[in-house]
Amino acid sequence: MRTSLYATNVLLSLTLWMTACSEDDAGMDPCASTSISLSANITGAHEGENDGSIAASASGSQGFTFSLAGGDFQSSGTFSGLAAGTYTITAKDQNDCTAQQTFTVPELSTPNVSYNAEIRPIIENVCWNCHKQAGQAGFPHADLSTPEKVQENATRINTEVQAGRMPKVGNLTSAEKSAIAAWVAAGAPIDN
Ligand code: HEC
Repeated sequence: MRTSLYATNVLLSLTLWMTACSEDDAGMDPCASTSISLSANITGAHEGENDGSIAASASGSQGFTFSLAGGDFQSSGTFSGLAAGTYTITAKDQNDCTAQQTFTVPELSTPNVSYNAEIRPIIENVCWNCHKQAGQAGFPHADLSTPEKVQENATRINTEVQAGRMPKVGNLTSAEKSAIAAWVAAGAPIDN
């Protein structure tokens, strides 16, 4: 009986103390006087690719962590691997005060087609069966033996490939055909 009365008193005073404490906290909301603002350096994304990024930074407080679209908070404000679109970034300071801002990753109009990674392997693996020694007896005249020659013939290549006339033997995948079309549309660069 005595023990339990004591325990009740302790519990009661603990409850009062906790209430007082949380009232104090509410009266001194650290976020009320904090004004966080966000800014970002943005890299656009190529059409259909996840190669955009947002490098956000925050000011107005300290100890920031950052979240993209409600995801986990991380110490870096840089988010990469993004497709074109609009994203909400949240910055949180050391007192859990937050600010949000939306940023738009623009779509880049120039397609990102690498000659060396995407076009060259098609030419060398597929077209060189017939087009490497162009000009010699028995080989067609479209000379595709060097990147410069491939570049010179870019429009013809695209016409033949999209029409399905080339490769004369074998097939290209639709992804390979699209890569060739995008490469020609980008001005047929061979230095990338
Ligand atoms: C099996 C052999 C063979 C393969 C493989 C081949 N070609 Fe041809 N290509 C030819 C021949 C033969 C011609 C000459 C025209 C004809 O007979 O159709 C030709 C012609 C061409 C021409 C010229 C068309 C014109 O008259 O303007 C282009 C451009 C061309 N090929 C591109 C390619 C490309 C690009 C590839 C690879 C994706 C390729 N070819 C694969 C045999 C081939």
